[in-house]
Amino acid sequence: MNSNSDITILKVGGSAVTDKSAAAGSAKTDEMERIAQEIAGFSGKLVIVHGAGSYGHVYAKQYGLDKGFHEEGFLKTHDSVRELNEMVVKTLRAQGIPAVPMNPLSFSLCEDGRLVFLYTDQIAEMLKHGLVPVLHGDVCMDTKRGACILSGDQSLPYVAAALSAKRVGLGSATDGVLDSNGRTIPKITPKSFDSVKQHIGGSAGTDVTGGMLGKVSEILELAKKAGIESRIFNANTPGSVAAYLKGDAIGTLIFQDE
Ligand SMILES: Nc1ncnc2c1ncn2[C@@H]1O[C@H](COP(=O)(O)OP(=O)(O)OP(=O)(O)O)[C@@H](O)[C@H]1O
Ligand SMILES: [Mg+2]
Repeated sequence: MNSNSDITILKVGGSAVTDKSAAAGSAKTDEMERIAQEIAGFSGKLVIVHGAGSYGHVYAKQYGLDKGFHEEGFLKTHDSVRELNEMVVKTLRAQGIPAVPMNPLSFSLCEDGRLVFLYTDQIAEMLKHGLVPVLHGDVCMDTKRGACILSGDQSLPYVAAALSAKRVGLGSATDGVLDSNGRTIPKITPKSFDSVKQHIGGSAGTDVTGGMLGKVSEILELAKKAGIESRIFNANTPGSVAAYLKGDAIGTLIFQDE
């Protein structure tokens, strides 16, 4: 099933716009600005989801929020990712992009760590008016655990499927998914996943949502369930976000086998 829509969903990885080896709150503002400039050259319908990077992951790990509710940790983590969201939105606006901050905590619900509902009708309406919704990795209320972490890698496929997006791009900090020799794996399908899985691991930085393996697993599900193709590429390589948006075949393509 291929979508007829003209909607693009772009993830700006937390690893691309923050320093995940550093303490909480280390933004890479120059990278954010360059990426925003590249996005400004695109005129199609666009939803942006950014990762939490060192803003969310550090507190989430400190307070064990991936395992359950902790009031102080929950509030600190949410405030921290909201702060990053505000920076991202401001940087996009400075480039003339009508970016709208959207905190998934306010319109989502999880059960045992998995998203069961995220309201998207308002996003569809925003796109009709040329607005660019900007979601992010967030904390989420969870009917079993109390709270959990709703990663951008998990909310993004949900939004992509709900809006029948045409394509999904995930800009991270490596040249796509790499094999054990550091070479980019050109494509991954549900069939080939078993043979490449051994090369894919968690994040090198502080991370509670599975790093690259978590990302690939979520995106493979999107390919299987909705037939939507994704590309994982390096958002820190100047020109790559613009190249992806233009339709260039960069990074790793993840798609459903024929
Ligand atoms: N085979 C692999 N190819 C590429 N990266 C890999 C691989 N195995 C493990 N990784 C690690 O996974 C990281 C990417 O996942 P990570 O969650 O840190 O990035 P992100 O999703 O952009 O950030 P965030 O979760 O904050 O949005 C890479 O920077 C690398 O450290
Ligand atoms: Mg991640």
